[in-house]
Amino acid sequence: VTAFDPTADDVRRDPYPSYHWLLRHDPVHRGAHHVWYVSRFGDVRAVLGDERFARTGIRQFWTDLVGPGLLSRIVGDIILFQDEPDHGRLRGVVGPAFSPSALRRLEPVIAATVEDLLRPARARGTMDVVAELAYPLALRAVLGLLGLPDGDEDAVGRWSRAVGRTLDRGASAEDMRQGHAAIAEFADYVEQALAARRDDGEDLLALMLAAHRRGLMSRNEIVSTVVTFIFTGHETVASQVGNGLLSLLNHPDQLDLLRGAPQLVAPAVEECLRYDPAVQSNTRQLTADVELHGRLLGRHDVVVVLAGAANRDPLRYDRPDEFDIRRDPIPSMSFGAGMRYCLGSYLARLQLRTALGALAGLPDLRPATAPEGLTYQPRTMFRGLTRLPVAFTPAG
Ligand code: HEM
Repeated sequence: VTAFDPTADDVRRDPYPSYHWLLRHDPVHRGAHHVWYVSRFGDVRAVLGDERFARTGIRQFWTDLVGPGLLSRIVGDIILFQDEPDHGRLRGVVGPAFSPSALRRLEPVIAATVEDLLRPARARGTMDVVAELAYPLALRAVLGLLGLPDGDEDAVGRWSRAVGRTLDRGASAEDMRQGHAAIAEFADYVEQALAARRDDGEDLLALMLAAHRRGLMSRNEIVSTVVTFIFTGHETVASQVGNGLLSLLNHPDQLDLLRGAPQLVAPAVEECLRYDPAVQSNTRQLTADVELHGRLLGRHDVVVVLAGAANRDPLRYDRPDEFDIRRDPIPSMSFGAGMRYCLGSYLARLQLRTALGALAGLPDLRPATAPEGLTYQPRTMFRGLTRLPVAFTPAG
């Protein structure tokens, strides 16, 4: 490795050899485009807990990149791009919708959705897990969290993906054009949903409307939050279902173990999250000079923490490259850490347990394509398969 570049084709296919090089030889590495890459677990945790590694500069980067207009105003209000005090204010408003007690209402919905989505496949004995299960499940769950009807999922999914593609270093001019067009329709849709809603109830739209009435959240922040949650909430879970199932398919002994022991579903999900996380990295920009591992990082430098690498750090995990669903659960970095720890982790785990548990129960489940036939979406921060065809014995 000379300068680590997560956008390189071979790294995108399999980042783990490069991560091991970084972990061993250069844990605070100056990579392509003068970006710092932090790989060790302890350092990643330290960075994520330190407010000097901030987000406002990153917000500026993306709002400049997408250019003036509605898209830039929506991107500018994304909770993930705020520092204190705005970050804490927004987190305080939306947080209660993510608590286990508020999400209990979604548990039966998620179980029924997985069954509905699997039903046609059960009769056939084949399916593309990414398109037929992972995406529709994740999208319906996040619409349920917000309190939006699932009938709208096709349009919402399309807008969300078009907007999401603009927030990637590899975005093309055509991606930008489509993103600008999509946000206009998406924002209109959210405005109409808000106009039709009241501010009572436990779902997120109701909570945000109540906060708006109390002057705690602007209208633009509500629209931005809906757009963001739909995007981050569904791309992540959908990718993680695919990555997790692929890890199990690549380790048939572990899949067999899981099939025979439903109590292993929860630890298996933790191991899937550790072994191949959907969110590989998080970005910060420094508001002060900081020394890390003898390296001087300057004010304004961009710092990327590599969760995918931290999860394989031999200083933290025994046999880090072994996929072992019975390992003592040690929390991974897959949901981040510190004040920005993923709000959706409970909802994500719920879906992953339900989906992976049901998939593992399909008789004689196996991949239906050679490993060379699998490709990853062209993204830098997220890691997710474009498709994952599987086969199994159809139901009588
Ligand atoms: C934050 C990962 C699912 C909502 C984060 C962060 C990570 C992450 C790594 C920290 C970002 C940072 O430090 O910059 C994941 C993964 C998921 C998942 C791997 C699925 C397997 C969800 C879901 C939602 C969600 C279902 C629901 C809408 C959020 C929000 C934040 C966040 C709102 C920002 C928290 C803040 O800025 O304080 N997520 N996430 N995530 N996640 Fe998730």
